[in-house]
This record gives sequence, C-alpha cells and structure tokens, in this order.
Amino acid sequence: MACKSIPFLYLLTVLMAKTGVDATIGVNWGRESAQRLIPSQVVDLLLQNGVKEARVYTSRTDLLQAFGGSGIGLMLSVNDLSILQDYHECMTWVQSRMPYFNVSSVRRIYVGNNPFVMGLLNNRAGLKENMDAMYNLQKALNDADWGHQIKVVVTHSSSQLKPNITKPSEAEFRDEIKPELSETLRFLEQNNAPFVVDMIPPVDLLIYKMDTSFAFVGESTQVIKDVNGAIYTNIFEFMYDAYVWALIKLKAPKIKVIVGQVGWPTDGYSGGNASTVERFFKGLLPYVSSNKGTPLRPGAPIDTFVHALTDENKMPNDIMRHWGIYHSNGKPKFKIDLMGLGRDIYPSSAKGIMRMPERWCVFNGNQTDYPMVQKQFEHACKNSDCSSLNPGGSCSDIGPNQSVSFAFNMYFQFKFQDENACSFNGLSIITVENPSTPKCMFPIEVVRGQQENYVKPTPKAKGYHQSPNCVVSLFLLSLLGAFFWN
Ligand SMILES: *[C@@H]1O[C@H](CO)[C@@H](O)[C@H](O)[C@H]1NC(C)=O
Ligand SMILES: *[C@@H]1O[C@H](CO)[C@@H](O)[C@H](O)[C@H]1NC(C)=O
Ligand SMILES: *[C@@H]1O[C@H](CO)[C@@H](O)[C@H](O)[C@H]1NC(C)=O
Ligand SMILES: *[C@@H]1O[C@H](CO)[C@@H](O)[C@H](O)[C@H]1NC(C)=O
Ligand SMILES: *[C@@H]1O[C@H](CO)[C@@H](O)[C@H](O)[C@H]1NC(C)=O
Repeated sequence: MACKSIPFLYLLTVLMAKTGVDATIGVNWGRESAQRLIPSQVVDLLLQNGVKEARVYTSRTDLLQAFGGSGIGLMLSVNDLSILQDYHECMTWVQSRMPYFNVSSVRRIYVGNNPFVMGLLNNRAGLKENMDAMYNLQKALNDADWGHQIKVVVTHSSSQLKPNITKPSEAEFRDEIKPELSETLRFLEQNNAPFVVDMIPPVDLLIYKMDTSFAFVGESTQVIKDVNGAIYTNIFEFMYDAYVWALIKLKAPKIKVIVGQVGWPTDGYSGGNASTVERFFKGLLPYVSSNKGTPLRPGAPIDTFVHALTDENKMPNDIMRHWGIYHSNGKPKFKIDLMGLGRDIYPSSAKGIMRMPERWCVFNGNQTDYPMVQKQFEHACKNSDCSSLNPGGSCSDIGPNQSVSFAFNMYFQFKFQDENACSFNGLSIITVENPSTPKCMFPIEVVRGQQENYVKPTPKAKGYHQSPNCVVSLFLLSLLGAFFWN
C-alpha cells in the first residue's frame, strides 16, 4: 500500500514543519439522509483520518456531546431562527449549549441557511431577520465570554456575485444585496470573524464558461490572465480571488476568507463519478496545505472544508445528494488524503456499521397496466432517491424494467426493508438475487439501529426557507437543470 511507503519520520517532519498559521482542511457532515452514521462513528472516522475540524449543519446536543473531548474544532449551525428572535433568546440558547462549549472546541456558528439568497429573491424581511439573529447571537456569546473563541458567520455563494465576469478583478457583489453585505462585513470585521464562501465548482465552471480541465489544480489547459500579471489555472483560485476582489470593492480588503464547503458529486449527473472526485481533491488538498495562497493573497492559508463525509439522499435537490466520501455502509468511494499530504490512500472505513440482510425489492416485469407501472415508479422515486437514474448517472443505462426495479428497491431500502414497503400494487417481488450491475449499485442499507439520537427538525421559523445544508441557490439550480438534464 502506498501509504506505508511514506516513512513515519518523514511524515512527522512534514507535520511538524507545518505549524502555526497553516491552512486547515476540515470535513462537513450533514444528516439529510435515510441512512446515517451515528455521531460517535463520525468522530471516530474524523480522528482516524487526521481531520482537525468539522462543520455540521445542526447544533443538536447529541452531536455536541459526541464531539466533546475529541479536540476536533467544530462549526455548528442554527437553521431554525425562531429560537434566536431576540437577544434574550440568544442568551438562553448560549446558556443551554455552554456545558458543551466547555468540553468541545466550537469555533463558528452558522446562522440561517445561505440567507443572502433571500436578499436576491427580494425577501428583505427574511434577510433582516437573519442578520438580527446573527448580531444578537454574537452579542450573547461575547457577553457570556465565549466571543473570543466562537464566531457567528453566514454562508456566501457565487449567486451573490455578478455572473458575467471573465476574470477575478471584474468580480463584484450584486447591487441588490450590497447594503446588507456591507453591514454584515462591518459586523464580521468587528468580531474578527471570517467571510465564509461555499464553492460548488461544477456550477461555477458552467456560470463562467470554463473548460472542464480548469476544475483540477495543476491540470488545466486553460489559463486566465488578470491585472498585475496575475495568472489563474484553476477554478478554486479564480473564485477565491473573485471574492477577494468583490470584498475590496465593498471596502473589506483584509477580511479573512475561508472556504466552508467545496467538493464534487460522485453521481446523479453526467459530470460526476468517483474518479472525477478523486482527481479533484488530489489536486486541491495538497495545494491547500501548501499555503501557497492565490495571486491576490500569496502565502495566505486558505482554510477549506471538504464537502462531505457522507451522501445525503434526502436533500431536496438531486445535485446535492452524492457528495459523500463514504457510501452509507461506511466504505470510502474513492481515494483522498484528508491531511493534504497527497498520499495515494483510501480513508479509513467506518467501524461497527451493520447492514440489512441481502435482499432487494424489484419490479416483476408485468407491464399490462403501463400507467400503473409509471405511477408506482414515480411514487417510489418521489419518496426515495432516484438521482442515479438521471442522464449520466451511474444507473442511467440499465433499461426501463431495471429502472423501475431500482426505484422500487430504493424505496424499500429507505423504509428499512419493511415488507409492506414492497407492494407497489402487486408489481414487485422481494429477491435475494443481487440486481446490481458493475456500474450501477442497488444498495442495501444499514440497520435501523444506526438511526438513534436523531429526530428530524421541524421547520417553523419564518427565516427557515430550505432544508438545512441546501446551499444551491434557485438561480444555480435552474442553470444546472438547463445544462445537465435537458
Ligand atoms: C464552564 O467552565 C467554566 C470554567 O472552566 C465554569 O466556570 C463554568 O461553570 C462551566 N459552565 C458550565 C455550564 O458547565
Ligand atoms: C456585466 O454586465 C453589466 C450590466 O449588463 C455591465 O454593466 C458590466 O460592465 C458587465 N461586466 C463585465 C465584466 O462584462
Ligand atoms: C468519470 O467521468 C469522466 C468525465 O466525465 C469520464 O471521462 C470518466 O470516464 C468517468 N469514469 C468512470 C469510471 O466512469
Ligand atoms: C421487461 O420485462 C418484461 C417481462 O419480463 C419483458 O417482456 C420485456 O421485454 C422487458 N422489457 C425490456 C425493455 O427489457
Ligand atoms: C399483470 O397485471 C395485470 C393487471 O395489472 C393482471 O391482471 C395480471 O394478472 C398480471 N399478470 C401476471 C402474470 O401477474
């Protein structure tokens, strides 16, 4: 194995040389899936893979508890703004989490869910509510003496930039959100908090009409020249400096910019498979840990969060469902060195995951009542995840009968193999013969026991406009739809 060929002492030297203001490589973990690891398994996985920071899309106490004492820096989220309506509610919330703050290393709290999308959709009240929650929460943290360690932030994405740029120096935030953005920047600066951007490279490549090779650090055939001799050869540096330029134009030239989310889906559309994602991170992560910086910020460490630990097959949008490094059975899908040393290694597998029995629910092939088959197919897909059947997805070429089987099986597995979930009006049977093909996996899911400690949050706040962790703006989605599925 390649990882063994790197002598331990060499590794140690590399690690020791890299101290101080080094870029951090973190990993994100969301729970919008039918099959979930439990928090203690996640902490174990992160530790085994040498990951020092993690971003989660909740602030539920089961998770805080699991991370307690692990030493892993933790980024939390509060999506339900109804619990942060005013300063007093924020203080109550801070006090409720204080026992956990004492034993875990919480560094940032994300408030809301890409709130500037509300601004772009002209929901000014929603955006204002989100900003007030952010201010009140930071004030409560400051007053409770946690402000030096825990910074309140929000997520920013490329939908906030004007889209028609050809180089980073042309970048500018959209006019309709400039007043609120300026105010937010002053707030972040006052608290010494970073500006967090979420990057979706496959989307950005489309928006800015780049060559696919521009996605991969060190492999591009496209070179973009900018002012002052700056040269860009990959989308990551291009986007980073685009944000920095936009920030300069809003009079925040020095604010720290970190990448709160970056990755590439392994399935669900024609540009996504495990080897592409492996190649993407193989270029990106060693670049991040080199602290090389960008033309505009040479030598600046760029803290970067890999999205994501596991798939989230309950995300509302297909494009966000296959970002996991791991399959739901805890096995890695591709090689990735999460320490950024560029080693050719698979990350460690998750321990203690129990799979359900080897059985699948499939279509019996009876097409006498075709509209009924269609109806059952749609019902199964609507209530599970059929994104692998999308054009270019891993199961896109299995034929109509098998596609129906795929849908039935996904539904059956989502329901933890409940036999009542394999009825489909008499069109299905349970089989022990694996219907998978070399390219298309019919998954078997993990046992229900893995679901403990989790209750889906009930959205009730006015500001809660999307499922947590869903950062693709409506604009980008329509664009993606146009590109990938028409
Ligand atoms: C947290 O720790 C501090 C000092 O270490 C202590 O004074 C405080 O009571 C603790 N708070 C909670 C809620 O455990
Ligand atoms: C982008 O479009 C706007 C409005 O159409 C225009 O004012 C601006 O100059 C354009 N920017 C670039 C870089 O082409
Ligand atoms: C993955 O996608 C790339 C780009 O679309 C393609 O060239 C490659 O053959 C695919 N690999 C596999 C294993 O499907
Ligand atoms: C679907 O299955 C039925 C019944 O087994 C068979 O008659 C039909 O040819 C199959 N269709 C395709 C496209 O494979
Ligand atoms: C196929 O389905 C039709 C109605 O949907 C039913 O009448 C028929 O008996 C079925 N055939 C078989 C072989 O199950």
